[in-house]
Amino acid sequence: MCGITGYIGYQQAAPVILEALKKLEYRGYDSAGIAVLHQGKLQVRKMQGRLHALEARLASEAAPLQGTLGIGHTRWATHGEPSDANSHPHRAGAVAVVHNGIIENYAPLKAWLCGQGAAFQSGTDTEAAAHLINYYYQRQSRDRPHADPLASAVAAAMERLNGSYALAVIAEDAPDRILAVRKDSPLIVGAGRGEQFLASDVPALLSRTREVYFLEEGEIAALYRDRIAFFNGQGETVHRKAARIDWDAAAAEKGGYPHFMLKEIHEQPKALEDTLKQRLCTGAGGRRDVDLGDMPLEDWKNARRVVITACGTAWHAALVAKHALERFARLPAEVDIASESRYRDPILNSGEVFMAISQSGETADTLAAARLAKAQGASVLALTNTKGSTLAREAGCALYTQAGPEIAVASTKAFTTQLMAVYLMALKLGRLRGSLTQEEYCRHLSALEEIPEKARQILGDERRIQRAAAHCFHKAKVFFMGRQFDYPVSLESALKLKEINYTHSEAFAAGELKHGPIALVDNETLVVAAATQRRLFDKIASNMQEVAARGASLLVITWEGETAFDRTAQEVFPIPRTEDSFSPLLAVIPAQLFAYYCATARGNDPDKPRNLAKSVTVE
Ligand code: M6R
Repeated sequence: MCGITGYIGYQQAAPVILEALKKLEYRGYDSAGIAVLHQGKLQVRKMQGRLHALEARLASEAAPLQGTLGIGHTRWATHGEPSDANSHPHRAGAVAVVHNGIIENYAPLKAWLCGQGAAFQSGTDTEAAAHLINYYYQRQSRDRPHADPLASAVAAAMERLNGSYALAVIAEDAPDRILAVRKDSPLIVGAGRGEQFLASDVPALLSRTREVYFLEEGEIAALYRDRIAFFNGQGETVHRKAARIDWDAAAAEKGGYPHFMLKEIHEQPKALEDTLKQRLCTGAGGRRDVDLGDMPLEDWKNARRVVITACGTAWHAALVAKHALERFARLPAEVDIASESRYRDPILNSGEVFMAISQSGETADTLAAARLAKAQGASVLALTNTKGSTLAREAGCALYTQAGPEIAVASTKAFTTQLMAVYLMALKLGRLRGSLTQEEYCRHLSALEEIPEKARQILGDERRIQRAAAHCFHKAKVFFMGRQFDYPVSLESALKLKEINYTHSEAFAAGELKHGPIALVDNETLVVAAATQRRLFDKIASNMQEVAARGASLLVITWEGETAFDRTAQEVFPIPRTEDSFSPLLAVIPAQLFAYYCATARGNDPDKPRNLAKSVTVE
């Protein structure tokens, strides 16, 4: 989704803003723009296309953009096609605005503003917000208690804007401040010395500061060179405490890898180790144990059911969580896609607990589903990678994965660390609920501790996967199938290939093959089978025979040393042996690499998949 940056300080703003925009490129965008204030004049440059085109245009100008205050934007089109005119910043009179989100009532607002004399230049929803702020700015909103007319205008506009927004606003006669506000869309203020920063996401700030403020819903921040002031919607000053970000700045760089995605695939052993380390502890009597931090264990121990919600990859992690909670803790679990559950009026009874899984903690649908659960009085747990994210703050109780910043749009290390966290949770609950003996609990924990090293071994076998991808990347139809724990892995593998190789790929529970998908299988089809559930080997082997008999090419992900599928499959991707229940932690890695190498063989940039955005902060 759109990326917002802002800078006010003593340096030239344009280079600082462009650098931050580059750090937000991963969010996905189709146009970029910047507005810098100099000697009371707003200078706006914006255009459709990638950031380097904007940079080239700025470099071709006779003189560099001057000014120590400015805002920048990368646009991911929602209302109005990608074009120069629809790019942000949008100007209205004396103000310039950048926006992430959707102004849902922009049409009636636009009609009203046109009636007031506003002249619109674009087809965007954002321009309505810009004109509305300008409308109130011109009238100074004297009835409001703000000393600051720009903040007052922003507050007045907020009362009439419906939808979701993160807005950064500057004005020609306000050379000392940037105004920022958010509702249902993230915005982060970074504090410096004599300079302040604004961004949609933490990685854009890491090279500048570690002291950040996560703007609260409806809160307005005024960034001055030497201070930051916060107001609530009523104009009252709010005192905020900065959060300190402990992510390593280098973690948000490519570190010698050609793409963030490949780097993040390779970071998985370490991320898994970190997620484990954070939770493993020595319990009573010197026994090994799992510490789940703030998680309300009593609620979960006695729960009659758990409801889990998420989107995309996180939803696949939720499906693994269901299997793990049912298997190890004998706790019934239901999984709901957040965009469905939020509109379905879901039933949550007393004695049931709710978990929302989200890497970013900012996904609009996941947030809405979690809010709904909270409103129904449920105990809500956030499983997220992002401290300070809206989900973490609103849930009130969060369990963090230790993946570090995930920049690539195609999620990899966030997924495997989510899996590690849900396994630890399921084992701990299994022990607390009495469904696991101490001995079983310790045995499972030991198996988990071996996972990072096993993940490393798979990465060592990367070339084999690269070679297979070189033969398969052009396949127009790819099916992924698996049973039990292999089914969510298949869904995740299909999603990866779809996202970055643009292949029409579909996943199904292998038992469903004869209920439909087999009609599409022919000698043009590639089928990738995940086969790690030993008690169902015969079943998946039959499914493989069935697709092979219809001419499909077959790749299999299975245990090292397993020969059962050698005669049916063209290629086997082996994974080191572990317990069947933990296989998703490993089986997904060859599939991630396969998708990555298919995309690069095709000439796609896996870090910038078409039409996709990293955090889906609007519906
Ligand atoms: O930040 P979240 O985990 O809430 O994101 C959910 C999905 O948008 C995300 O997993 C998406 O499906 C990824 N692009 C998958 O690679």
